[in-house]
Amino acid sequence: MAPDALVRLDKVSKIFPGGIVGLDAVDLDIAPGEFLTLLGPSGCGKTTSLRVIAGFENPSSGRVLLEGRDITGLRPFDRPVNTVFQDYALFPHMDVAENVGFGLSLRKLSGTEQAKRVGEALEMVGLADKLGARVLELSGGQRQRVALARAIVCEPRVLLLDEPLSALDAHLREQMQVELKRLQSSLGTTFVMVTHDQTEALSISDRIVVMNKGRIEQIAPPAILYDRPATKFVASFIGTMNLLQSRFVGRAGERLRFAAGKLPLEAVSETGETPAAGETRTIGVRPEDLLVVTEAAEGTAPARVSGIVFHGRTLRLHAELGQGTSIVIDAPRRADGFQFSVGDVAHISLRRGANCPVLAS
Ligand SMILES: Nc1ncnc2c1ncn2[C@@H]1O[C@H](COP(=O)(O)OP(=O)(O)OP(=O)(O)O)[C@@H](O)[C@H]1O
Ligand SMILES: [Mg+2]
Repeated sequence: MAPDALVRLDKVSKIFPGGIVGLDAVDLDIAPGEFLTLLGPSGCGKTTSLRVIAGFENPSSGRVLLEGRDITGLRPFDRPVNTVFQDYALFPHMDVAENVGFGLSLRKLSGTEQAKRVGEALEMVGLADKLGARVLELSGGQRQRVALARAIVCEPRVLLLDEPLSALDAHLREQMQVELKRLQSSLGTTFVMVTHDQTEALSISDRIVVMNKGRIEQIAPPAILYDRPATKFVASFIGTMNLLQSRFVGRAGERLRFAAGKLPLEAVSETGETPAAGETRTIGVRPEDLLVVTEAAEGTAPARVSGIVFHGRTLRLHAELGQGTSIVIDAPRRADGFQFSVGDVAHISLRRGANCPVLAS
């Protein structure tokens, strides 16, 4: 265990009635003050992880530790943990201040102290002027802020957020991402957020936990996850990645040289292994790490263009490398210099210095 972990899941499994696996021997250390995001497809165990940390769900086996202390059997209310639910779960018959103060009214605080803390929490989320407003009069974004204020007012050590922004439109959602991050840094509270939106996870998190079928596939900061995904699942879940079956052809110093059909590739292996000559591996290649030219040259491979998609600043080319291998390339869209049409043969090469990961299955 990392000596400074605030929360630790120690081999936590959750088997639901009927043998449905919610979590499968999950080990996870959450550092104090970090913004950790759980990312993964529907049903992978994100909500179950939060519920186990909050105490709403008992693990079938394994332990939950807080600063090294076993809290597995502790009731939710006895944990220094608060949750912002996806639907906010506000009380519609109460006004904003009553909603935010609800948790405090259960603790033995004076009325003046309660009012002061409710005011401060609403100030933090930019709703100081909505103290007496009724919840039903608020917009989606404002309700979201009330739910946040209600969760932070009790000063939890850990704040759990289950898809907190999913009900908001794209524009407001982006604005709230920035605000959530700002709030988290100024409070210094540990945030554990669930999302299935990879862009949101990449933009807001200190570290991302990628989950698949009740297990953790990889835990890493956003840039590492993007540049050095460990598995095919992570590579295909984060951004767009070509997964190319490639033959090992030899080393070039630290780098491993492969060939995907006729396309020469250079890859880096996280494990440090050197495959035997001729062995195949899956190499991940980002569309932006491929270059495309009209003439064949040293290091290029021919590919027939099968589709061109407008992406604004770039054009995304879909092409066939031969032997049933499709590849996508992001080509800069110069005002009038783009030379390809569907059916043309493009010549593709790997951008110099591109770091392509060798992916585990
Ligand atoms: N109370 C329950 N009873 C039975 N099965 C459950 C229960 N809660 C969750 N599961 C199952 O456990 C697995 C993980 O569910 P969980 O809710 O954690 O997924 P999730 O990652 O949050 O998905 P989503 O993105 O759809 O919210 C799923 O197969 C789900 O059907
Ligand atoms: Mg969920």
